[in-house]
Amino acid sequence: MKYTQGIYPIIRKKAVAAEIYDMTISCPDVAAAAMCGQFVNIKVDGFMLRRPISICGIDKEKGTLRIIFEVRGKGTKALSQLSEGQLVDIVAPLGGRGFELLEKDKKAVIIGGGIGNPPMLPIAQHYGKNAVVISGFRNASAVILQQDFKESGAETILCTDDGSAGRKGFVTDALADCLKKEKPDIIYACGPSVMLKRIIEQAKNAGVRCQVSLEERMGCGVGGCLVCVCRTIRDGEEYYAHVCKDGPVFEAEEVLFDD
Ligand SMILES: Cc1cc2nc3c(=O)[nH]c(=O)nc-3n(C[C@H](O)[C@H](O)[C@H](O)COP(=O)(O)OP(=O)(O)OC[C@H]3O[C@@H](n4cnc5c(N)ncnc54)[C@H](O)[C@@H]3O)c2cc1C
Ligand code: FES
Repeated sequence: MKYTQGIYPIIRKKAVAAEIYDMTISCPDVAAAAMCGQFVNIKVDGFMLRRPISICGIDKEKGTLRIIFEVRGKGTKALSQLSEGQLVDIVAPLGGRGFELLEKDKKAVIIGGGIGNPPMLPIAQHYGKNAVVISGFRNASAVILQQDFKESGAETILCTDDGSAGRKGFVTDALADCLKKEKPDIIYACGPSVMLKRIIEQAKNAGVRCQVSLEERMGCGVGGCLVCVCRTIRDGEEYYAHVCKDGPVFEAEEVLFDD
């Protein structure tokens, strides 16, 4: 995993939903190396540990990275108070394994739950019209990225738990409908573990390859501590993987959830 630490300017920042911010950072060396599914680890003044945030957009020509984050605690609150023109200290690109992209003409179903949607945008842009993007949110006030997903050329299905935008229900209901119509070549997902667990079952039952991006609390972000370990299985052997270094993306059959 090759990464750099640097201080870069924020060139764009705006609120996109309740307590959700969209930020673009000019960091040409990082953007040149970044891949779909990786993340940045951001230093926030006053906090020792960096905050991991997924890469939502990579523009290698302009040398920029886009991130979208929700205010969850003090660190993300402080991050949300930075303005365009200010500098951020990031370590990136991190994540030894991002999403594996197949040929563009393969069929993909891409599923994001809540703040798990941002890392799915580059996948949708890769597959374009051959993708179906299913995004789920708790309600209309939390909905993000729908225009971006549409512009990728993908078919989009918006779900909210309470039906205040799109169709009422969970992304897993929409996935079940998609799987009845056509078997895709691959399913990608990022979101809460309860959602991922169900999607993994659905993919397995349908015999479709599935990759999921996991989220664990992190310390160093580069494989040097044990904060982010998760139980996985490979070649029949259980092992503790580091989400930061061995992931954050895993094949569905590798993931073991603690009930
Ligand atoms: C690989 C990865 C990608 C992520 N991508 C995004 C994203 O694109 N957008 C987004 O809004 N959020 C994302 N998160 C979650 C985000 O890192 C946390 O919401 C954030 O760290 C919370 O920090 P805080 O100081 O506001 O909260 P606090 O709860 O005050 O944080 C205390 C400590 O716990 C850690 N922590 C708290 N919640 C999480 C969490 N869910 N995951 C990891 N560490 C956590 C913080 O980094 C900090 O060290 C991602 C997490 C991971 C692991
Ligand atoms: S966060 Fe330190 S090993 Fe993953």
